[in-house]
Amino acid sequence: MTKPYDVIVFGATSFVGKILSRYLASQPAGTLRWAMAARSQTKLDELSGELGVDVSLLIADASDEASLQALCAQTEVIISTVGPYALYGEPLVRACVETGTDYCDLTGEIQWASRMIKRYGEAAKVSGARIVHCCGFDSIPSDLGVHFLQQEAQSSLGEPCNSVKMRVWKIRGGASGGTVASLMNAVKEAKADPAVRREMTDPYAICPADDYKRVRQPNVQGVQFDADFKRWVGPFVMATVNTRVVHRSHALQGHPWGEGFTYDEAMCTGVGAKGAITAGVVAAGIAGVMIGSAFSPTRALLGKVLPSPGEGPSPDEQENGFYDLRFIGRTASGKSLSVKVFGDRDPGYGSTGKMLAQAAMCLAFDTPKTEFEGGFWTPASLFGERLISRLTAHAGLRFERIA
Ligand SMILES: NC(=O)c1ccc[n+]([C@@H]2O[C@H](COP(=O)([O-])OP(=O)(O)OC[C@H]3O[C@@H](n4cnc5c(N)ncnc54)[C@H](OP(=O)(O)O)[C@@H]3O)[C@@H](O)[C@H]2O)c1
Repeated sequence: MTKPYDVIVFGATSFVGKILSRYLASQPAGTLRWAMAARSQTKLDELSGELGVDVSLLIADASDEASLQALCAQTEVIISTVGPYALYGEPLVRACVETGTDYCDLTGEIQWASRMIKRYGEAAKVSGARIVHCCGFDSIPSDLGVHFLQQEAQSSLGEPCNSVKMRVWKIRGGASGGTVASLMNAVKEAKADPAVRREMTDPYAICPADDYKRVRQPNVQGVQFDADFKRWVGPFVMATVNTRVVHRSHALQGHPWGEGFTYDEAMCTGVGAKGAITAGVVAAGIAGVMIGSAFSPTRALLGKVLPSPGEGPSPDEQENGFYDLRFIGRTASGKSLSVKVFGDRDPGYGSTGKMLAQAAMCLAFDTPKTEFEGGFWTPASLFGERLISRLTAHAGLRFERIA
């Protein structure tokens, strides 16, 4: 029987949920049957007034399984922006897996994604639910950027690249309270549990356990000069999420990029002494936030200066933000190529809202259950070119070969 909605947004009243809902509200009439869900009727009423949309408003609480099952009964796909996911996300994943409902989210909490895969991976295959984590800035541009580069390598060089580097060339954007809360919770979990700590440093943390030969992965943690990019580089804060997703994509596709495939990410900070100093500042800043998040007094201090839940970049900052990511790949025989992924709007919100919405529509309209089985997928392994086309046509992204 046809369900009443293609997509329900759970967490529509979150900072990023509002941006996403505004974007869905701007879709051409008649193209999408959707509804907004959250725990607060008052906030939903306010949001629907602000957006001027006439869509159903549904009440559900992340801790009330019956309310989540009721959402699943009404829709083909659920988007969740209710985070930190490690605190609130599991009951909805379970409900989707039990009911065979497709699901996508914005988690960058790899330790949580790993738990969900272990707990519900087999059941999702049986029920047919397609679960796709990490459908925001982490990790769609990285995951699809590598996918695009490998397609180019196959078609023009005749072989895949067995090593790929991504460097953040330019970026402008900020963080929201939800992202800060998720990061702090992940650091807290890692401090309390050595198994979580080990998992967070494992590049293959969300890969299936198989006999694939795992190799030491490059990992930029301090200041380095990158001869390929002729720039100083420092660590990129999202690398510990994106690299894991790229390795899972590789594994789910049967390791087409070769035994010993390596992938790493870093942030370009410029040339000369200024570039080197900036790389040092980036490295120290990331280390400072990580260490600060691990201890209660400094966590409280950081809480005062960083955004609180519900806060994030201003509309101007979202509008004027952008990102330009560069990838270089090398084949086993020594050939190389470069591609670029560009996105308009600030990465974590303006662009993320559009990417998550397009991922959900790709699930609802472009990936029939008869062709794609249930399970925990990644953006590249499930959507591939279909999502690249959507993002290029409707979400301000560009994927280009540059060398
Ligand atoms: N991957 C990426 O690129 C990316 C980008 C942006 C954000 N994120 C992630 O997305 C998540 C959301 O970020 P945000 O800044 O939008 O967060 P936020 O504004 O703090 O929103 C969190 C939402 O969770 C809802 N919530 C909390 N407990 C709930 C419960 N028991 N039942 C139902 N709803 C509940 C809150 O409802 P109320 O509205 O009623 O308070 C709120 O709407 C975070 O985990 C963040 O890390 C990822």
